[in-house]
Amino acid sequence: MSLITLNDGFSIPQFGFGTWQIPDEQARDRVAEALEIGYRHIDTAQMYGNESGVGRAIAESGIPREELYVTTKLNNNNHAPDRVISSLGDSLERLGLDHVDLFLIHWPLPEIDIDYVDTWNAMITARGTGQTRSIGVSNFTAENLRRITGPDSVVPAVNQIEVHPYLAQNDLRAVDAELGIATEAWSPLAMGTVFEDPQLAAIAERAGHPVSAIVIAWHLQRGDILFPKASSAARIRENFEAQNVQLDAETIAAIDALDEGRRIGPDPVTFNWVPADEV
Ligand SMILES: NC(=O)c1ccc[n+]([C@@H]2O[C@H](COP(=O)([O-])OP(=O)(O)OC[C@H]3O[C@@H](n4cnc5c(N)ncnc54)[C@H](OP(=O)(O)O)[C@@H]3O)[C@@H](O)[C@H]2O)c1
Repeated sequence: MSLITLNDGFSIPQFGFGTWQIPDEQARDRVAEALEIGYRHIDTAQMYGNESGVGRAIAESGIPREELYVTTKLNNNNHAPDRVISSLGDSLERLGLDHVDLFLIHWPLPEIDIDYVDTWNAMITARGTGQTRSIGVSNFTAENLRRITGPDSVVPAVNQIEVHPYLAQNDLRAVDAELGIATEAWSPLAMGTVFEDPQLAAIAERAGHPVSAIVIAWHLQRGDILFPKASSAARIRENFEAQNVQLDAETIAAIDALDEGRRIGPDPVTFNWVPADEV
C-alpha cells in the first residue's frame, strides 16, 4: 500500500475505505470486513453518525493503533472555535481512540456567521492538544484556501474535495499542490454512477479490467488519496485489488477525456447547511 508524506511530516495511506451513508449499526461489520481485507485507512465524520460503529470495528480488530489511519471531520454545527476541541473529544470517545490521525473542517460554510478562518485557528489549537496528528480541510475552494494560509498560519495537510472522472478538478488540484496540500478525492466512483457509463465500460473492456479497477487506478496514478465506499465484502475486496492495476497512457487519456466539470455533490460555494444543534 502506497504512503503519501504530508506537509507536516506524517504519512497517509493513499488508499482507504469511506464510510458515508453506512449507518452506525452496519459500520462495525463493513469496517471489520475492510480491515480484514487489508485496508488500514478509514474515513469517517461526525456528520455520518457512525463513529461508534467504526470504533467498535477498530477495537475488535486487534490491529495495533499505529498501523491504522483514522480521519474524522468537524460537523457543520461545530464551527464555533470553542466547539472544535470539545467536539473532537466527543469523536474520540465514540471512536474509542485517544487521537485521530487527521481532523478536517468538513465544509467551509462561507455564508454562516462564524468565519472559517476562526474555525481554522481553533483547528490549529486542537492539533496542539495531541488529539489529532494532522489537520486539514474539506470542500475548500482556492479562495477559501488562500484566506487561511497567511504567512503566520498552518497550511492544511489535505484538502478533501469531490474528484472523479467527470470532475477531474485539475485547477484546484494545482492550487493544492502549489500550497503543499495533498488532495483527497471524495466520491471517487462518482457515487456509483461510473458503473452506469457505457463509455467507461468500453474503456474498461479494452483495458481488460473492471470499471472499478480502472477508475481507482486512474486516481492512484494521478496521485489522489481516495477511499471508495462499498457495501459488500466482494466489492470492498474488488476495490482493494485495484491497487495492483497499472494503466497505460492511452487508458489514462481516455478517462481524462471524460472530464466535463460536472459535480454530483453540493457546490461548496453555495452549500451552507447547518444541522439542528443536537451534539
Ligand atoms: N468530505 C466530503 O464532503 C465527502 C462527501 C462525500 C463523500 N466523502 C467520503 O468519500 C467516500 C467515498 O465517496 P462516496 O461514498 O460518496 O461514493 P463512491 O465511493 O464514489 O461510490 C460509492 C458507490 O459505488 C458503489 N460501488 C463501490 N464499489 C463498487 C464496485 N466495486 N462495483 C460496483 N459498485 C460499487 C457503491 O455501492 P454499494 O454501497 O451498494 O456497494 C456506492 O453506491 C465517502 O464514503 C466518504 O468517506 C466525503
